[in-house]
Amino acid sequence: MVKIVVGGHFGDEGKGKVISYLALKDKPDIVARAGVGPNAGHTVYKEGKEFGLRMVPCGFVNEDSRLFIGAGVLIDVKRFLDEVKITGTRGRIFIDKRCAIIEEKHKEQDSSDGYLKEKVGTTGSGCGPANAERAHRTIKLAQDIPELKEYLADVPSEVNNAISDGKDVLIEASQGFGLSLFYGTYPFVTSKDTSASMAATDIGIGPTKVKDVLVVYKAYTTRVGEGPMRNFIDENSIKNYPIWQEVLKDAREKGFNGSVNEILAGYLGEKGTVTGRSRRIGDFDFTLAKYSSMVNGATEICITCLDKIFLECKSLTEYEELSERAKEYIKKIEENVGVKVTLISTGPRSEDMIDLRKK
Ligand code: GTP
Ligand code: IMP
Ligand code: MG
Repeated sequence: MVKIVVGGHFGDEGKGKVISYLALKDKPDIVARAGVGPNAGHTVYKEGKEFGLRMVPCGFVNEDSRLFIGAGVLIDVKRFLDEVKITGTRGRIFIDKRCAIIEEKHKEQDSSDGYLKEKVGTTGSGCGPANAERAHRTIKLAQDIPELKEYLADVPSEVNNAISDGKDVLIEASQGFGLSLFYGTYPFVTSKDTSASMAATDIGIGPTKVKDVLVVYKAYTTRVGEGPMRNFIDENSIKNYPIWQEVLKDAREKGFNGSVNEILAGYLGEKGTVTGRSRRIGDFDFTLAKYSSMVNGATEICITCLDKIFLECKSLTEYEELSERAKEYIKKIEENVGVKVTLISTGPRSEDMIDLRKK
């Protein structure tokens, strides 16, 4: 059985945490990383320790899972080798021999080119320039790099053989739908499509092999970098949002200051995993959520960070224990998006999860 996990807003929805839960709970034989490359930072906890993973699949938390990085994903060699070391995954992690390689020149271009850095607001990780060079057909591939020799694999064969043997495969995508090169808020987007179909292509499996597409949304919307955002919360618009007025009050009491949006970002701890930039905060974007569920072919959805706006929900694992207002909030999202909510995340640790699939 193949399940793909994708982001439904602008990235940073908490996919890393969701994947770590599913890897431990569903015990997939394979966890494979799709997406653009090391521009993504997935946050995940293992035995109380926090990891901000940009290359290694978050499913590493399950020590029995085999880990793969698909051919569509760009590799930063140093970053990859460092993460293999800190996660202790050598021997069970493999990358497709056709992954393209990010070099120093790509990072330099990404951080010095005014258009990319200032206008698009990229992460500076070299992904855009590397994908441009890939399209130009001059980029180096993983099979050209001696240090990667022991990690090389034919990922499509490994994954498709596992599927034929009836094993479970979990695919983790990165970024979010609003950052898709095809369907996002162009030109304020990343350098590739970010939908579930692209994730399948990244790994080398056909659409007929995919059973579930789980689209992840935060309980509110965040965006790092440039580009438009609906329902941005500021001094004016906060009048329309009773929930946010309450959060703001609590944030001010706890000593956060600055503009309304800065106070909320500080209080919610919304800082980029890769760049450390502050994320902008918006109310839940139903329009984007509905559209992204449609294009992704969502079979189920997950809502994360419920505990950040409803403090009483922190670390709960049973739906019945949620407050009435939190239940109504979830119901409203489910009805508007038109897809069943199967997972509700109530904290950053893997175990902070309400799993409605068992019901
Ligand atoms: P990208 O691939 O970069 O889009 O990342 P991501 O979707 O894996 O999200 P990222 O880890 O960048 O950001 C999510 C943040 O929210 C991290 O700091 C997580 O630890 C945290 N987080 C995830 N789920 C929850 C939750 O339910 N509650 C709380 N309090 N924090 C959460
Ligand atoms: P790039 O992918 O580094 O080229 O950046 C292009 C845009 O996508 C910028 O607005 C980035 O902030 C955004 N972006 C890229 N990757 C992520 C991610 O993993 N989470 C959130 N935003 C991202
Ligand atoms: Mg992130």
